[in-house]
Amino acid sequence: MNPAAPHTTTPATTAPVSEQDLFSDHTLAHTEEVYGELRSLGTVVYLPANDAYAITRYEAIRTANSDPATFSSRQVAFNPQMNEILSGTSLASDPPQHGKLRAILTDNLSPRAMRSLKGTIYADADTLVRELVEKRTFDGMADLAVAFPVSVVLDLIGVQGDKRDRILPWGEAAFNLLGPLNQRARESFPLAGELFKWTHEEMTGDGLAEGSIGHAVWQAAERGDIAPESFGYLVHQILAAGMDTTIATIGNLIQLLADHPDQYAKLRRDPSKIPAAVAETLRFRTPAPGFGRVTTRDVEVDGVTIPAGSQVALLYGSGNRDELKYENPDVFDIDRNPVDHLGFGYGIHGCAGQGLAKLEINGLVESWIRHVDSFTVTDVIPRLNNFSRPYASMQVTITA
Ligand code: HEM
Repeated sequence: MNPAAPHTTTPATTAPVSEQDLFSDHTLAHTEEVYGELRSLGTVVYLPANDAYAITRYEAIRTANSDPATFSSRQVAFNPQMNEILSGTSLASDPPQHGKLRAILTDNLSPRAMRSLKGTIYADADTLVRELVEKRTFDGMADLAVAFPVSVVLDLIGVQGDKRDRILPWGEAAFNLLGPLNQRARESFPLAGELFKWTHEEMTGDGLAEGSIGHAVWQAAERGDIAPESFGYLVHQILAAGMDTTIATIGNLIQLLADHPDQYAKLRRDPSKIPAAVAETLRFRTPAPGFGRVTTRDVEVDGVTIPAGSQVALLYGSGNRDELKYENPDVFDIDRNPVDHLGFGYGIHGCAGQGLAKLEINGLVESWIRHVDSFTVTDVIPRLNNFSRPYASMQVTITA
């Protein structure tokens, strides 16, 4: 869609144009810098490389998310194949279908369900941290940020056996595929297909541990209480949506605390600041920095008309650094406590798994600050993904 083309129903107000590509290696490696450049151009910026209108400012992103009738999630991904594949999920659906699909997940990830998991998750976090403290030096990604969520989520679903090694590449592939069909996305199709086949065709309730969420959902489907395909979608969404984001956040938090020893010391003195530190990490280095929408009508955003049928990019990572919203947005400060950050999105599509994610991350940090006086992080290697921002590896050394 050409932003400069004459439009029949609304007087055209042209969006500023940027040559940046949201999914290029350069943008993925310098996300905050590129988003800052887009913000300085306008609240809405047209990107020919993605044929998309980026919404860059905090308030405009929240307003768009409050109006799903205009900003539809049918194009949450940036390629038609994925939007088609995702059409049965809450992520890519609109009301009224959205509410029904989301309920399958939220029933199982409710605050009450999370409270019952807290003891186990915190105990497992403590066991892992103690093992790592013994080692003194280890890979903060593979041994901590990846190992913990993979183990928690597989236990939650009730998976027994040998799939653990596949979970990370599957989660990564699922996120790459939300972008346009660049090389990263094309290479991810076979892996994402494996995950879909496993969750929708191969996995059965018989193989799942008694008492797990997976087993309970399977039994509900067997009884006919929920649609048979709900089981596959539930497991798929937990693995695809919940893995790479949680992994990225744990890695980001460890790295940011190592880079800011004053903040780490503050956190150790006052562990009640843990949720604030996690929120600030999600604001400062947003793990899933942008999601797609499609406009169902001409809509004006901050003086710019976005025509009906346009691909939109809601840049949560940009809203989280918006200087109109946050004072000194480029400073990492755990006292800021940005409870209203956009790291989990906002509105009806706001992250359905945030209770679980917070439980995992808070549990790890609580144990970490109890056992580790000081530590360093070196050799941080990024891993570029179209939709999420994990590191590939980082060396953590416990110094005291
Ligand atoms: C720190 C970790 C996480 C982050 C940063 C994160 C981020 C997000 C964001 C930004 C959205 C909004 C998408 C949109 O606006 O279209 C979202 C939605 C969603 N997330 Fe998460 N997520 C995390 C963990 C999880 C976990 C652990 C699960 C599952 C157990 C999960 C399941 C979902 C689902 C199902 C949706 C779609 C909700 C809907 O459309 O109604 N996420 N997440």
